[in-house]
Amino acid sequence: MTHPLQSKILVISDIHGNREALQAVLDSERSFDELVFLGDAVAPSPQPAETVQLLSELSGIHICGNHDRVMVNESMTENWPKPWKVLDEWVRSSLSTNDFEYLRELRPDGNYKVGGKDLYLCHGESKGQTRHLLPHSPMSEFLALTRDEDSDMVLFGHSHVQFQKRIGNKRFFNPGSVGQNRCGNPVACYGVIEDGEFYHRHVPYDTTPLIEAIYAIEPLNEFPEFREWFGETLTSGFGVGKSEPWTTLADQGYI
Ligand SMILES: [Fe+2]
Repeated sequence: MTHPLQSKILVISDIHGNREALQAVLDSERSFDELVFLGDAVAPSPQPAETVQLLSELSGIHICGNHDRVMVNESMTENWPKPWKVLDEWVRSSLSTNDFEYLRELRPDGNYKVGGKDLYLCHGESKGQTRHLLPHSPMSEFLALTRDEDSDMVLFGHSHVQFQKRIGNKRFFNPGSVGQNRCGNPVACYGVIEDGEFYHRHVPYDTTPLIEAIYAIEPLNEFPEFREWFGETLTSGFGVGKSEPWTTLADQGYI
């Protein structure tokens, strides 16, 4: 039996309906004792149902992300541009009642005991001026994620960049994104906690099935330019297009 403090915890986040990338992570880390998922399971998404089915089989702590909230609350997409709305509707139509049940049961941000460690788990939406917490975001915005009494080891996602930061006693770890990289590397990023230490890892995967899945989404026939752009984001690893701050972060060597 593994001693709790020596257990291996797999940390994944921001899969965004990319089953190929999730499978690559699981193939790469065949054995682990505990799993933490930090949110954003599906949309925007070429393989929504396949992803939820694989993800929901993994026992562990699964945290709710902003895109998961959108999935269970359709009114949040009212003002989205048309192609995104059409894609979102297609994603919903692909999901079964059980898939929605999984999304509704995702857990809130908070302190959790995982593999004998006290961890603060959150999706990582900034409470300050910036939308995403990035390596150079103000310290105050990192500290605003938690209260003083929360665990000193904070795991968060949402910004899709693999990095860590230490502020006083608090250590902040972002495993990066499994399925929608933004810094120009089409790899699946994740983290592993072993013997109490956090390690960043990444693994390549084949994007061909994703592109095929995108071209099989019939409602997107109406938006060929959007579909081409969407496919390009996944194959290039610039998950929201080649734009700031991701291009600068890519130049600085972040993945
Ligand atoms: Fe995300």
